[in-house]
Amino acid sequence: HDYESIFKETVLDEFTYPEKYLLELRRNVKQISHLQFYDLNSDIMGSIYNTLIENQEQHDRGQHFTNTNEVDIVNAFCINKETKTVLDSGCGAGTFLVRAYAFMKHFNKKAKHIELLERLWGIDIAPFPVFLASMNLSLLDIKEIDNYPAIINKDFADIKTKSYHDLIFHNHTTEFEINKKNGKFSSVRIPQFDACIGNPPYIRQELVERKDTWSSLVNSEHGLKRINQQSDLYVYYLMHTAAFLKEAGRLGYVISSSWLDVAFGAGLQKFLLDNFKIIAVIDNQKMRSFETASINTVILILEKCSDHEERQSNIVRFIRIYKDYKDLIGQSDSENRFDTVSKFTSQLEKTNKTVKNNDYFVTVRIQKQLEEESTTDGKYENGNWGAKYLRSPEIYNRIIDKAGDKLIPLRNVVDVFYGIKSGANDFFYVIDDTKEVKKLSDDEYKLQFGFDRSKHKISWEKFGWYYSELTKNHHLMERAYFQPLFKSQKEAENLEVNKKNLRYQVLICNES
Ligand SMILES: C[S@@+](CC[C@H](N)C(=O)[O-])C[C@H]1O[C@@H](n2cnc3c(N)ncnc32)[C@H](O)[C@@H]1O
Repeated sequence: HDYESIFKETVLDEFTYPEKYLLELRRNVKQISHLQFYDLNSDIMGSIYNTLIENQEQHDRGQHFTNTNEVDIVNAFCINKETKTVLDSGCGAGTFLVRAYAFMKHFNKKAKHIELLERLWGIDIAPFPVFLASMNLSLLDIKEIDNYPAIINKDFADIKTKSYHDLIFHNHTTEFEINKKNGKFSSVRIPQFDACIGNPPYIRQELVERKDTWSSLVNSEHGLKRINQQSDLYVYYLMHTAAFLKEAGRLGYVISSSWLDVAFGAGLQKFLLDNFKIIAVIDNQKMRSFETASINTVILILEKCSDHEERQSNIVRFIRIYKDYKDLIGQSDSENRFDTVSKFTSQLEKTNKTVKNNDYFVTVRIQKQLEEESTTDGKYENGNWGAKYLRSPEIYNRIIDKAGDKLIPLRNVVDVFYGIKSGANDFFYVIDDTKEVKKLSDDEYKLQFGFDRSKHKISWEKFGWYYSELTKNHHLMERAYFQPLFKSQKEAENLEVNKKNLRYQVLICNES
């Protein structure tokens, strides 16, 4: 047994510990020796990944462990009996790969550990996740001698399709192309994959390094000349990953949901419409995927398809899940887990019309319709898929479906544009506190308005006592220049807005 990546020398081996630490270290080693290697499952590796990585690195590189339920749902959509090769291009602690291993083993009971290892490829830029992912996969069968997971420690932006990588690789299935051997290492050509799974790093555009490299990659791979500069890293990541996927292969991601609604998402939506059958977009309305990242995610399932007709007639499912996944697919270590999760995903995939029950609500759309809805004068604009199909009240889609072509977009008949933005809401928005005047003591009244209450000649019809959150003071001002402000949808209980319930008044003064 030869676990280089696990036992190779690191800085810790050169470190001399002061005497006083030795006792504690000895105690730790003793405790570790009681642990069973077999008990170290992917959830434990994941929590090591979540806790040991420094917060800053976690933030800069988008390192967040993905929960096993979502991983299994992605895998059940993407891996089947025929799946031979699987890639996770940002594998972290290796949860997707470990669970993919279990799925492949489930479908092919006779497959050997070493055969499965060479079919599951992972990439990660950071050495510690690579170490954890290697451990995670090796531990699945520590009796094997050739126990070398195919994990590459590189920036994904530097990995080209069909490029060669130095790995300890035995090519048991003899399906891989090996260029030359160099000692223990073979130079192996990265294959095209049947399934690409994972959850890409969430890194906001301001922090994306090497944007030019990413842009020229997606340009050479997909002919995309211009990617919206506001795009988060996951947009490039998905596009680059797609280049490693075989025709009819599946791509399954746990991915930030922002692209569904924000402007830069239009480019990604168009890319998906042009290259894939979009099988499902799944939003769990009961849970947040990442405790450590303040990000909302969805599960996105795609199938690569170069046939335009086939893509256009594909049925896209927008799915809202109402329960915790564990209540729908059981615990990750339950005996019939694979059957339960596969049954759940195939039930969703078979849904061809809008369905609602206690567990989920599926809205279906024909892919062609999705594209047409958001294309004006040949230009695709963001289709607001999140707002329309994952967050809108049920009645919205019922009305749209029923109305058919009786409804047209407002922009077809009038120019729709943003009004003027002042950028100074807290100056213009104030709270009418006139009713509080009555509660002032006589002294306070005099202090505020400069008159005794009884002598003050003022009409409260004409004037109001307005509180400004900017100055943190009240101001006496003419009512004529204020209008009630409907600032947020939350201020109305239904389609009617009761002006009396609105919090703010807005200053509108067009006199100089
Ligand atoms: C959200 S995490 C994946 C977590 C993983 N699914 C798990 O459960 O452990 C994203 C991973 O992408 C890696 N990453 C970020 N930028 C990368 C890049 N440019 N190339 C390769 N990996 C990268 C991070 O180090 C991180 O481990």
